Amino acid sequence: MSLNELASRLNNIAPFHVMELAKKAAVLEQQGRHIIHMGIGEPDFTAPPAVVEAATRAMADGKMQYTSATGLPQLRQAISDHYRSVYGLEIAPERIVVTAGASAALLLACATLVEKDAQVLMPDPSYPCNRHFVAAFEGQAKLIASGPEHRFQLSAQMVREHWSQATRGVLLASPSNPTGTSILPGELRDIVAEVRERGGFTIVDEIYQGLSYEGTPFSALSLGEDVVVINSFSKYFNMTGWRLGWLVLPPALVPQIEKLAQNLFICASSIAQHAGVACFSAQSIAIYEERKAEFKRRRDYIVPALESLGFKVPVVPDGAFYVYADCSALSDDADRLTLDMLNEAGVVLVPGLDFGPFTARRYIRLSYATSMENLQEAVARLKTFFASRKAAA
Ligand SMILES: Cc1ncc(COP(=O)(O)O)c(C=O)c1O
Repeated sequence: MSLNELASRLNNIAPFHVMELAKKAAVLEQQGRHIIHMGIGEPDFTAPPAVVEAATRAMADGKMQYTSATGLPQLRQAISDHYRSVYGLEIAPERIVVTAGASAALLLACATLVEKDAQVLMPDPSYPCNRHFVAAFEGQAKLIASGPEHRFQLSAQMVREHWSQATRGVLLASPSNPTGTSILPGELRDIVAEVRERGGFTIVDEIYQGLSYEGTPFSALSLGEDVVVINSFSKYFNMTGWRLGWLVLPPALVPQIEKLAQNLFICASSIAQHAGVACFSAQSIAIYEERKAEFKRRRDYIVPALESLGFKVPVVPDGAFYVYADCSALSDDADRLTLDMLNEAGVVLVPGLDFGPFTARRYIRLSYATSMENLQEAVARLKTFFASRKAAA
């Protein structure tokens, strides 16, 4: 078979550039260099003991068969209870569909809502896979440039201005990857109203919602049953490799998504689902809240530290574990700078390139999902790195 015979939709899917940087870092590590990784968006914590025990018990008890496509009833109930206790929201378990991570949730939502050639609005910068989920179903992601004055997010006005005949909906993430910034609740309410008025869909990826450091907990689910919400066990629950997430859907969409999930995945891992129930025990939540406090502590250290190195952090991130820092006072090419920081200081940061063209050359993303010691060591190395560049200039 020749490559010419591959489906043309592949032409609209770009590779993850950050993986190239990770490969270069791996080569340096093989050569014996000590590298500090602040590129990857993955908690440095793993699942708490009760969660691991629940998985082990599920395996020992032979609970490893397929589950229903919508997920284990006790897990859907536990997620529903979590919405009540954290957000004060009554979400019927029947509206919750358990998936293999937020990725499968996004895939199912896009398969259901994105018609061929339909346009979906999203901010630039945003999580790179989002535009590729849309492209996979032959829709078009319309990236809307958004700077710090808009918290790198869409506003209701942008939705109004950019909505066209071809637009079907918006895909948002709050807090966002790569910026760690949330859409303010009032703005999100206005966005949902704009979209609703036009008969479109709103998908809000709340994968980092559990890691919100400011204000009272807020979910887009409070804005109406028509909002599609994505979430996951990967970030707040520290379970990236377990591949577990969920969707909260308008009731009418549940049978449609269920039908698709049955065909595409059958179900999410049953072992992970049994373990997932244990995430919501008081004991596990206490551990997660401690870890969340640790992430906040790291944010409060790293933001001023980056500024003292010459980066600008125009909006202090209020969630997730990322800082999107403006490096224009240090370099006119974020790509080159991240390569130099890797080669000369042994520190991995990600250039803006993957997240959209608007901020690509001006911003770098730092993930503080690594120990405080590593963060302090990275800052010390970068101080030396920038001092020697200054001296050489
Ligand atoms: C905004 C956002 N959505 C979705 C995902 C995918 O997460 P999952 O591991 O739940 O598939 C990620 C992963 O980094 C992300 O940052």
